[in-house]
Amino acid sequence: MIKSRFRFHGILKTSFMKDLFGKALLDYQKGNYTEDIVTSTSISEEDTLPLPYLFRGYAEMPQLEKKALQLAKGNILDVGAGAGNHSLYLQEKGLNTKAIDISEGAIEVCKLRGVNNTEVIELLNETETFDTILLLMNGTGIFKTIEEVPTYLKHLKSILNTNGQIFIDSSDIKYMYEDEDGGYWQDVNSNYYGELDYFLSYKNEKEQPMKWLYIDFNTLSTACTSIGLQCELVKEGEHFDYLAKLYVKR
Ligand SMILES: C[S@@+](CC[C@H](N)C(=O)[O-])C[C@H]1O[C@@H](n2cnc3c(N)ncnc32)[C@H](O)[C@@H]1O
Repeated sequence: MIKSRFRFHGILKTSFMKDLFGKALLDYQKGNYTEDIVTSTSISEEDTLPLPYLFRGYAEMPQLEKKALQLAKGNILDVGAGAGNHSLYLQEKGLNTKAIDISEGAIEVCKLRGVNNTEVIELLNETETFDTILLLMNGTGIFKTIEEVPTYLKHLKSILNTNGQIFIDSSDIKYMYEDEDGGYWQDVNSNYYGELDYFLSYKNEKEQPMKWLYIDFNTLSTACTSIGLQCELVKEGEHFDYLAKLYVKR
């Protein structure tokens, strides 16, 4: 179970990155699928991230993602769109959707799959405004560290239309630190327990190490309150994961 929890993580790109995530998506899209992405974190062993999962249709999506898609309306922004699964579904439903990602490979795949409105752009540089903003597949990973959460939340708030809504999923990974006696082995001097170093490799190439953030609902809620966003628990998943709705109270 622990392993599967750590399967489906994305990447954070810096100027030094090789975009191996995008390369893998492109390989799959072009019919050159021979192997999966290999990932590990500062607190977990190597695991594989199956490429077919990154091309999942609505039926294969977790309940939390389905719920977010059901609630999406108006002009929609899909942040960290990856291969564009959520954008494609919404577009097919007739909704106006823009897919953004820092991975050039990912956006190329979105275009090849037929997503009409795409851009290679970092979330903090997005300036258009939206009625619904989606950050799915551990959307809080994009915030990277607990310190950067307010910056990202403030920016998300600034690109939200009046009566707009943000749907974001994450997990409380405290269970990862539990020992056999039910105690926790966290280092009290370390950063927030959901802040992980994340390592990715593909076809024997190693990506630059990245930061990836999991955040428990209460910590997210407190951060939201501090910058004037309401944070509502929409749905809990099967394994400490949850979907939250963020909005401005009128
Ligand atoms: C876990 S993947 C999720 C992909 C897709 N949402 C899905 O569910 O299949 C995370 C995606 O976020 C993108 N990403 C990471 N940081 C980002 C940022 N600051 N701005 C935009 N996209 C970002 C990554 O390149 C990656 O494609």
